[in-house]
Amino acid sequence: MRIDDVAFKSKELGFYTYFPQVRSACGRDMTLLDGRTMLNFASCDYLGLSNHPRMKESAISAIQKYGSNIGGPMIFSGFTEYHERLQQRYSELYTGRTALMFTTSYQANFGVIPLAAERADLILLDKLSHVSIWDGVKLSGSPFRAYSHANIEMLEQLVLLNLDKKILIVTDGVFSADGDVANLEKITRLKQLHPALEIYIDDAHGVGMLGNSGQGACEAAGVLSDIDYIVGTMSKAFGSSGGFVVFKDEVFAEKVRFRCPTYNASRSVSPGVASASCTALEINATEGSMRRAGLAELTRYTHEQIDALGVDKLYSKTAVIPVVFKDPMEAARVNAGLVGKGIMGSLFVPPFVPKHQSRIRLCLTYNHTQSDVDYCIDALRQII
Ligand SMILES: Cc1ncc(COP(=O)(O)O)c(C=O)c1O
Repeated sequence: MRIDDVAFKSKELGFYTYFPQVRSACGRDMTLLDGRTMLNFASCDYLGLSNHPRMKESAISAIQKYGSNIGGPMIFSGFTEYHERLQQRYSELYTGRTALMFTTSYQANFGVIPLAAERADLILLDKLSHVSIWDGVKLSGSPFRAYSHANIEMLEQLVLLNLDKKILIVTDGVFSADGDVANLEKITRLKQLHPALEIYIDDAHGVGMLGNSGQGACEAAGVLSDIDYIVGTMSKAFGSSGGFVVFKDEVFAEKVRFRCPTYNASRSVSPGVASASCTALEINATEGSMRRAGLAELTRYTHEQIDALGVDKLYSKTAVIPVVFKDPMEAARVNAGLVGKGIMGSLFVPPFVPKHQSRIRLCLTYNHTQSDVDYCIDALRQII
């Protein structure tokens, strides 16, 4: 049963929940068109910045100066000061490495993986990698092998069997649907043994959420210096929109600027968004640690409560928590039950996840409280 079947069947049974009509800013709760206020566990607003007054002020002031759009793709129509500053801020976050901004991190993966693949003979990727990684790998037309999720032994075997080739390893940092973190210590050890190998980490969920300074899963694992490409997004922890790629090889980054169509042939984020993103990174520098610590404490508490409830949450350890069901329609029914009690999660069914691991994904943010979590756990207990 795939997502369209689940959607049709849910409509028939009266518990359709996709594409909610939202009429409030993104926060710990959300108001819907029909006036209901829902507790919002469906956003990835991990640091709780989406509706921050400073973010809004900075977007408005940039729009007042530059309007709502730039004239064309940046290669021909230029950068505003906000776009320049943003690219600079990305670079500063990663201690001076060259960074390029993209309109989304989907576009970053779709555009940069095919170019990174030209430097390799074989791509090895985690089977559960995000769809944007898969799309980039398929677009590259390069030979690839997918190792089963988090199976480092299999990855090691594949590396050993292909020592004559230049290998590119690609994986999520924090996995978007499972909430676990790639074993970056072991993956980077492979690079220490085989220095020609390159590592590409899409850390859309980890950037801002993990690491002392918010550099993400690679910082948390202490392996930043071994990573060749880090992809991040402003659309999750940083409460704005837009993707970026941080490159170890600055000469290659300069090539990407000219050769990557999703960089140079697509409109950049608007000046307002670029400005809000700059502000998010400024807030990260001063308050990020405090916000991450608050989120980590709430994450620890929620995992404890979910474990006590006894539902299957796979091996998640982060603020992304799946509640897993063997049957997609059962997941849809429980999700509708939660919506009925004023709780919004995200219903994942095939092809996003394997059929027997359909799930409601609950994402925590800095703005949630322990009583929000208690209310949600209690609702799950009653419905299940
Ligand atoms: C791992 C991963 N990469 C990339 C993306 C795309 O993010 P965006 O295009 O919003 O920047 C997502 C979004 O859900 C994701 O989970």
